[in-house]
Amino acid sequence: MTTRVEIVNDFLAVNVKPGKTIQDIVEASGSALPFGCRDGECGTCVVLIESGMEFLSEMTDKEKVVMKTIGETSPKARLACQMKIVEPNGQIRIKY
Ligand code: FES
Repeated sequence: MTTRVEIVNDFLAVNVKPGKTIQDIVEASGSALPFGCRDGECGTCVVLIESGMEFLSEMTDKEKVVMKTIGETSPKARLACQMKIVEPNGQIRIKY
């Protein structure tokens, strides 16, 4: 029971089990997606979820604060260091 995660910019696709963070996946896959604080505070890891938001954890309070601080208003924007895969049998497309 896995969910497929595609990182569009890097032409990467991996199948992962729920519970993994996007940060785990990025670091294990060799993606060039940048990170800074890795704690939901700097906004360096902001990405757009092109599809599959329903397979990801809810936006955290830290994410909401950072999005407001950096002026990101897209409903597709998330912080890669904060979100986890929460549902199997899905497909998530991430762009950065
Ligand atoms: S790396 Fe700083 S918010 Fe994600």
